[in-house]
Parts: sequence; structure tokens; C-alpha cells
Amino acid sequence: MKGVILAGGTGSRLSPLTRIINKHFLPVGPYPMIFWPIIKLKEAGIKQILIVTNRESLSSFVQLLGEGEELGVHLQYKVQQNASGIADGISLAKNFVGEDKFIVLLGDNIFEAALIPYIQSFKQQTNGAKVLLKEVRDPNRYGIAEINNKKQIITSIQEKPKKPLTNFCVVGIYMYDQYAFQYIERISPSERGELEVTDLNNVYIKQQQLSYEILNGWWIDAGTHESLYEANSLIYQKERKGHDI
Ligand code: G1P
Repeated sequence: MKGVILAGGTGSRLSPLTRIINKHFLPVGPYPMIFWPIIKLKEAGIKQILIVTNRESLSSFVQLLGEGEELGVHLQYKVQQNASGIADGISLAKNFVGEDKFIVLLGDNIFEAALIPYIQSFKQQTNGAKVLLKEVRDPNRYGIAEINNKKQIITSIQEKPKKPLTNFCVVGIYMYDQYAFQYIERISPSERGELEVTDLNNVYIKQQQLSYEILNGWWIDAGTHESLYEANSLIYQKERKGHDI
């Protein structure tokens, strides 16, 4: 399986920190944020990684990470022309992925759990996609899953709902089969002008091919000032407890 990390975006919620710096270079613990998703993929045995970013940041990523030798992975890069959404960013991985299954990480999602068990169960799934859920206090900020508990399936996902039906956020860790690229061609831009990953996941729901699991441990979308601070403090707490990071 291959890995794709989305590391573009405008980082507007982290302004003015992001006025001249891509948010993925901001510090989380002792490292720039982008190190964390790479470390998580490597820990799960995924070393072929594509980083999707914007034109302005590309040379800085190359300067920081090169081809991934320091972190023990093989990195490739792709430029996303506009901030046209997560699903648009995923579509750029088509040639890189080929006919394999793949995992997508949002570069600003910082989390505690190892990815291995989720990847293993996805590998056993014959086709389709898998998402991971986490209960949150502020469901209006995220993609929120409606679940049929009896059948243990997600029946729909709403992106940033005004009246959330549950507190189960779909976190920025997605696993897909190769059909994702065809499905992305079927979806249209949302009100905010983006190809939404939620719309892609809803296509898989319609096909009855979206599985889910609850993500263990803490999880943070470090895209705001408060959550970036929280990610830093959780990483340092973990370090103090003597865990490997
Ligand atoms: C994105 C997704 C959303 C998901 C979240 C997780 O939100 O659109 O469905 O729950 O990441 O971090 P965004 O960061 O674009 O606001």
C-alpha cells in the first residue's frame, strides 16, 4: 500500500502564522508538523509516500525533506494548482497509486494511535474504502458520520453540519481502493468551491463499500491556534511519559 499526505491549503485559520509559512512547517513538539504523518506512515511500514502541496511551498518541502532519506522513506511530490479541496488533492495521486490500495493522511492531523491495525483490517477488506471516527466536542467543524448502530454502518456523512446528528467526526485518515479516482470525477464542487472528501466518502456509502473503525488515543486537527497548542502539549506529555514518538 502507498501513502499520500495532503499538505497544501491556505492555513487561513492559523493566520498570521501562516501568512508566509505553510502550516505544515509550524512546530509540533520538536519537529515541523509534516514530520508526524510521515513518521506514522513509516511506523506502519508504508515508505512510498506522495506529498501533495501548493506551488509556493514545493521548494521548501524539498529543502526540508529531500527524497525522504533522513526519515527513511521515499518521497515524491505533486503540486495542487488551487486550493480546490481534499478530493481534488487525492485525484493528483492517480499515477502514483496505480492499481494499489492507498491511505491518505491530512498533514495537519496529529494523532497518538499506530496505524497498523486499521491498515491491516483494510487490507483484508476486498474492496471499497475505510474511514476512522472520533467523538468530538465541536462537531460543526468536521465531517460528521451518521451511524446505524445495529448494522454497524455509516449511513451518511455531512460536512460541517449546522445541526450535527452525532458527535462522530470522520478524521483525516482515509483508506481507498483504486476506484476513488473514478468516483472523484463524479463529484462537483461544494458551496465553498471545493471537491469535498465527504462527497467522495458518500459515494462509497452509496455503493455500500465504506467501513469504519473508531480511532484509539487522542487525535487533533491542528488547523487552529488552540488545536495547534493542544497538539504541542499532547506530544510533549507523551515525550515526558517516555513513550517513543
Ligand atoms: C477536513 C474534512 C473534514 C474532516 C476534517 C478532519 O476539514 O473536510 O471532513 O473531518 O478535515 O480534520 P477541513 O480541514 O477542510 O476543515
